[in-house]
Amino acid sequence: MTDQDNVIESLISEQTVNSFNGAPDARYKQIMQSLVRHLHAFVSDVELTEREWFEGIRFLTETGQTCDGLVRQEFILLSDTLGVSMLVDAINHRHSANATETTVFGPFYIEGMPDREYGENMAFTAGEAALVRGRVVNTHGDALAGAVLDVWQTAENGMYSGQDSTQPFGNLRGRYRTDADGYFAIRTIVPVCYPIPTDGPVGRMLNTANRHPWRPAHLHFMIQRPGYRKLVTHLFNHDDPYLDSDAVFGVKQSLQVIYEHRVTHDDLSESLGLELPFKRACYEFVMEAE
Ligand code: BEZ
Ligand code: FE
Repeated sequence: MTDQDNVIESLISEQTVNSFNGAPDARYKQIMQSLVRHLHAFVSDVELTEREWFEGIRFLTETGQTCDGLVRQEFILLSDTLGVSMLVDAINHRHSANATETTVFGPFYIEGMPDREYGENMAFTAGEAALVRGRVVNTHGDALAGAVLDVWQTAENGMYSGQDSTQPFGNLRGRYRTDADGYFAIRTIVPVCYPIPTDGPVGRMLNTANRHPWRPAHLHFMIQRPGYRKLVTHLFNHDDPYLDSDAVFGVKQSLQVIYEHRVTHDDLSESLGLELPFKRACYEFVMEAE
């Protein structure tokens, strides 16, 4: 590359950055100028060929075309598998004191799922019976009554309801509330590990990179209570083989729970009619004041 080539290439980047100088919104301007700088630096760094650039455009086009406006959101999947979702999450939850750690939201949440009673069963498909119970408190340890826990997980076939037409409406999904003392109880099945969708461009990317698509078994939570920061997190089965290689980098040590094998009832399981034996996991969520 001659000096003249260098000047021409730098000029292209400089002109593009400067084209955003007049953006009225300062944050928008900062984001776009930084994006252009990094994008151009990447293109220069790898000396992108025209064929590679076109392949990138094709990949992004197909990523958009794979989204269905319901539960298939290939761009979220791309962000997750590139580690961007977890990086954004980390940046936005830096000062969370002793609050429960957060993790990816993922693309499979569905709004408006059924409200469920304390201890109500949300599993209408087969699996290993489980009771997940615990408490929601603030960072001082005070109970939070009336916190809403939106919960979702896959069926034993590794698919979420909404993704799989064989599952009944609301299967393995629901909105629970904490009682006056901050306690919650969810009757469900033990989560299983599952592969993220591999039949689209993100799946092809993983395959090309020789990466596996598996997520360790987990139960999703989105917990909300007025005056507190929304808590988006998972509880991971502590003995899952994919804990060290989650396809979306979402695992944190503090979010791992043991599903203990119960051959006797506790104070709640008998009244809920659980058959012995069953599995039980307990967890205390700590919410941070806004
Ligand atoms: C999930 O756990 O539902 C999920 C998260 C990121 C990508 C795909 C699925
Ligand atoms: Fe999930």
